[in-house]
Amino acid sequence: MNFINPCTMPLWDGRFEGEMDERVRQFSASLPFDQRLARYDVQGSIAHAQMLGKCGIIPAEEAEQIVTRLQALLAAIELGTLSLDTDDEDIHSLIERVLTESLGPVGGKLHTARSRNDQVALDVRMFAKDAIRDLQQRVRALQQTLLQRAEEHLDAVMPGFTHTQPAQPVLLSHHLLAYFWMLQRDAERLQDCFERTDVMPLGSAALAGTSFPLDREFVAAQLGFSRVSENSLDAVSDRDFVMELVFCCTTIMLHLSRLCEELVWWSNPALGFVEFDDRYATGSSIMPQKKNPDVAELVRGKSGRVAGDLTALVTMMKGLPLTYNRDMQEDKEPLFDAVDTTAMSLSVLNGAVATLTFNVERMRAAAAARFSLATDLADYLTKKGLPFREAHRVVGRLVRDCLARHRTLEEMSVEDFQQFHPLFAADVVALLSVDVSVAARNVVGGTAPESVRQQLEKAKRLVEATSS
Ligand code: ARG
Repeated sequence: MNFINPCTMPLWDGRFEGEMDERVRQFSASLPFDQRLARYDVQGSIAHAQMLGKCGIIPAEEAEQIVTRLQALLAAIELGTLSLDTDDEDIHSLIERVLTESLGPVGGKLHTARSRNDQVALDVRMFAKDAIRDLQQRVRALQQTLLQRAEEHLDAVMPGFTHTQPAQPVLLSHHLLAYFWMLQRDAERLQDCFERTDVMPLGSAALAGTSFPLDREFVAAQLGFSRVSENSLDAVSDRDFVMELVFCCTTIMLHLSRLCEELVWWSNPALGFVEFDDRYATGSSIMPQKKNPDVAELVRGKSGRVAGDLTALVTMMKGLPLTYNRDMQEDKEPLFDAVDTTAMSLSVLNGAVATLTFNVERMRAAAAARFSLATDLADYLTKKGLPFREAHRVVGRLVRDCLARHRTLEEMSVEDFQQFHPLFAADVVALLSVDVSVAARNVVGGTAPESVRQQLEKAKRLVEATSS
């Protein structure tokens, strides 16, 4: 065959006389990272070729030949037998070259009515849609684990904190469910992002649309998109969905980092609230006694990295004129990194939480310490008619006195209480229990066992509704 495959040259060689500097070739190549889009690139090309044939833009037999070859290529990609580490500029050039090598000049018809600008926008959207679905499943899995652990420890009491200081007793289940709701917002945010990502850009060509009579709706349907883009200039230059997805990853990671920070702190032997399973902890190379919470620390650390990915993207997009600019090639590495890091963090942390041992006795003891029931005493006086502000002051004095005498609230008699205010009566003694304290907070969204039980049921229904 004396056919010279034009695709062994750059896709744009006609205009050029001289060759590109080798360093520039390496500098501008995206294949080392966009090879990850191979599958989507071929799927998009299959739909495009089918449409070209169906609309009579290229002969139907030729479209069929192209589709058959592309299907074989897709199979090779899935099997990992297609070599992707080549000198091609990007994944689009690679696929077109391989196709044309096996098919001859007919392969060159695939790019009719298409530009790499709408092609790459399509590939990244397809990648993002799959990534969103995958992340949603991983978020769900962690939510389910949190639900399960909360249910196991429904009535366990722990100290609730503000400013890292013991504040009021809360239920461990209530605390775990707080993370459930954070993740619920993440799941919903991902769904929102999915809907804006689910837009098919092909047909925008380089920027202005195309003079060929395309059926864009057909391509969208073939590829499972629910709608097509409305403006070609916007379609080739829009990376909002990339920023949005990486923002979703960032909020997930920030939520995980907060949980991890607590687990690091709770696993400190001085507190001893939790112990990591051996499978999710590491030792020290020098101190034989140590068990380190490295998984939690790494997730906490990686949250900074994902926030960095977001920063890279928004900074790259800032001030870009319409339409496609090569800057936008820089969208892929932060996107891939954010998605991979978040996916892995969700799964590893899920395992760590599922196998965590909660030391509920230590938690209960800590919940009762440090005058954690002082608010209950102030509420008690308030319910007897004292303005809250005054009740607060009375109990503040009482705590100061206890501290000076090194005694706890439980060591005080009714008479001792009455020295601070005559409204204290015999029933005050019954208040001095963490169980009574949490049970009293029976408002919707409060930490009382009854409220938490309702919260848990609601959470379960939500998970069931969205995981079917
Ligand atoms: N590798 C490029 C990217 O990722 C593909 C699009 C190239 N388009 C162009 N006009 N050079 O953005």
